[in-house]
Amino acid sequence: MYAQMVKTSGNGVKTRDEMSDNERAFQDRIDAGEKIEPKDWMPDDYRLTLMRQIGQHAHSEIVGQLPEGNWITRAPTLERKAILIAKVQDEAGHGLYLYCAAETLGVSRDELIEELHAGRMKYSSIFNYPTLNWSDMGAVGWLVDGAAIMNQVPLQRTSYGPYSRAMVRVCKEESFHQRQGYSIMLKMATGTGAQKAMAQDSLNRFWYPSLMMFGPPDADSVHSEQSMAWKIKINTNDELRQKFVDQTIPQIEYLGLECPDKTVKWNDEKSGYDYAQPDWNEFFNVIKGNGPCNKERLAARVKAWEDGEWVRDGLLAHAKKKAARVAAE
Ligand SMILES: [Fe+2]
Ligand SMILES: [Fe+2]
Repeated sequence: MYAQMVKTSGNGVKTRDEMSDNERAFQDRIDAGEKIEPKDWMPDDYRLTLMRQIGQHAHSEIVGQLPEGNWITRAPTLERKAILIAKVQDEAGHGLYLYCAAETLGVSRDELIEELHAGRMKYSSIFNYPTLNWSDMGAVGWLVDGAAIMNQVPLQRTSYGPYSRAMVRVCKEESFHQRQGYSIMLKMATGTGAQKAMAQDSLNRFWYPSLMMFGPPDADSVHSEQSMAWKIKINTNDELRQKFVDQTIPQIEYLGLECPDKTVKWNDEKSGYDYAQPDWNEFFNVIKGNGPCNKERLAARVKAWEDGEWVRDGLLAHAKKKAARVAAE
């Protein structure tokens, strides 16, 4: 299955004349704003691209629990601890909705998890960066969940029904995540000198990795054109990154912190900020598995899977017994 998933498209978008009757009818439905449902006919590449995209999205939610789960026992107050637990638990829920959405395309959750554990499927590069101080919980909620919202809000209008519906609830929860992050940042940035320095340090470390969350510049983005025609992708990477920068700079100013990018400048003509690109070599290197925490993250996921085997076995044994009892009645 995965061999197919990685090989998708790259052939450019077909003209109407090159499309089969089925493909033309499919594209017409998408152009008319209709949702595609699991039992509808769809081109193989559409199915495979979505399996990869939704699968990677699900993995990102699950792996994304690790950098924050790490801080639950060290949260500074009971209230912050309760909030962080709720937030990390939400991410598990997001992963589950998304694995379910992927399953409607014909790939099982077990298969997807196996691909992740074998290192053949990716998750968002951001989760390969470490969370070093409490203020990082603020920066992650504010910037990382903030970037996730920017990516996910347009996906509520994506053409595949189960994916778009999952996004509606995910986005509502993400906005709570972002606010709890900003609330931590505000507390830290207006606290003692040492706390403010921690907030600045977090912002410095998470700024560029957050910009990377929108993917490479449009000129280097492989799957974009076909995905946009299919409304699997609604905005380009650069459009979303610009929106994120425009939203975040005033928030940095409000916090009284400094943007690590000293070249940031308002540009009247485009009615947005000019900003420096992140180091794309670093991005590709992290994606390849060489980020600061890649090995640790994957090892934690594999361990959780192996440690949970007895639970899965127990549930299956119980379900079998129950089914046998019902059959015997
Ligand atoms: Fe999430
Ligand atoms: Fe989140």
